[in-house]
Amino acid sequence: MNNFSFQNLTRLIMGKGTIARLSEEIPAGKKVMITFGGGSVKKNGVYDQVKAALKDYQTVEFWGIEPNPAIETLRKAIALGKEENVDFLLAVGGGSVIDGTKLISAGLLYEGDAWELVQKGSATHTVPLATVLTLPATGSEMNNGAVISCRETQEKYPFYAHFPVFSILDPEVTFSLPPYQIACGMADTFVHVMEQYLTKTGESRVMDRWAEGILQTLVEIAPQIHENKNDYQLMADFMMCATMGLNGFIALGVTEDWSTHMIGHEITALTGLTHGHTLAIVLPGTMWVLREPKKSKLLQLGARVFGITSGTEEERIEKTIQRTEAFFRSLGLTTRLHEENIGTTVIEEIEKRFNERQVHFGEDGLVDGKTAKEILERVR
Ligand code: NZQ
Ligand code: ZN
Repeated sequence: MNNFSFQNLTRLIMGKGTIARLSEEIPAGKKVMITFGGGSVKKNGVYDQVKAALKDYQTVEFWGIEPNPAIETLRKAIALGKEENVDFLLAVGGGSVIDGTKLISAGLLYEGDAWELVQKGSATHTVPLATVLTLPATGSEMNNGAVISCRETQEKYPFYAHFPVFSILDPEVTFSLPPYQIACGMADTFVHVMEQYLTKTGESRVMDRWAEGILQTLVEIAPQIHENKNDYQLMADFMMCATMGLNGFIALGVTEDWSTHMIGHEITALTGLTHGHTLAIVLPGTMWVLREPKKSKLLQLGARVFGITSGTEEERIEKTIQRTEAFFRSLGLTTRLHEENIGTTVIEEIEKRFNERQVHFGEDGLVDGKTAKEILERVR
């Protein structure tokens, strides 16, 4: 086990009817800017619940934080927040609204252009923010990360700020999710766990089994959610998988990868394909191209999550990769680039960008432009 120091600062408030608790959690007298996406919260009753809970607060609303939040939109939110002197932020939505609001929380206390903060990669000086999560996927509700895009240059980068002070997770608000968003959320959650698991064996028995527990839960509940997405217990388990999958817990003392995400972010930036869907395409490629360095963990994954125990090592690894791809397809997602009309131009652009940036992603630093190209060619 590697050394670590760990603290997660988010209070998690889970369950039916918990949006009403907003007024107990936000200090009295705060001027709250509430941020939203494109309007799903108006149709499913979340907006009304939030407004009712905040009736005694001065509030300002900012609408229109889009999927893959754009700096172009967030600049407007920062300008509004500065003009209104807001001192608390409440993000109501999925990962995009929450991520965008993390940048707003830093941008409100920054004199320059907020894109400079994204380029620096982090900020420590922030206005407190809390969330009402409506889409289980990113873990943004309980971590300090965000991913911000620039539409003009077709770029997308991670950015780190502060943890939400608290996050409210009511599984009932997920009942209105379209099946495609559920599929992408499941794929995203699955790959978050893989990024922190599919590296080295023998670093931590606890983290391994915790990660495998989340993967097994996803494999078990996915077909049931496919049948009935309005089952409270199933959606509660899905929400916990997503939050626990990226709140830092399963990464304690173990080596992490994240190369699939870095390639996936480029695909989204260049084509607009939804985040979780890009990962469902890239991960089987990463597993195949890096099957040698990841060999022992692939065998462990196969045996413990998919019950693959017979055959040669090579056969078991191949089966494990096939089962992973089959899991994504069972969610209703495509797993090849050509199925989304993505071809050579995008692959070459990603190779070029990785070469220019001289990146070496992954636990062994093996994923540079050339390897990224190999991964993408494999899933073409
Ligand atoms: O905008 P509205 O109208 O609210 O609709 C949204 C949006 O169109 C809709 N939606 C959300 N909750 C709903 C709902 N529709 C009906 N009922 C509900 N309850 O779903 C659509 C997608 O929302 P979005 O927030 O974009 O999805 P997600 O939560 O998957 O977030 C994706 C973003 O998070 C980043 C991704 O890169 C992407 O930009 N990530 C953030 C991470 C983090 N902060 O740690 C890690 C991840 O790896 C990821 O990169
Ligand atoms: Zn992700």
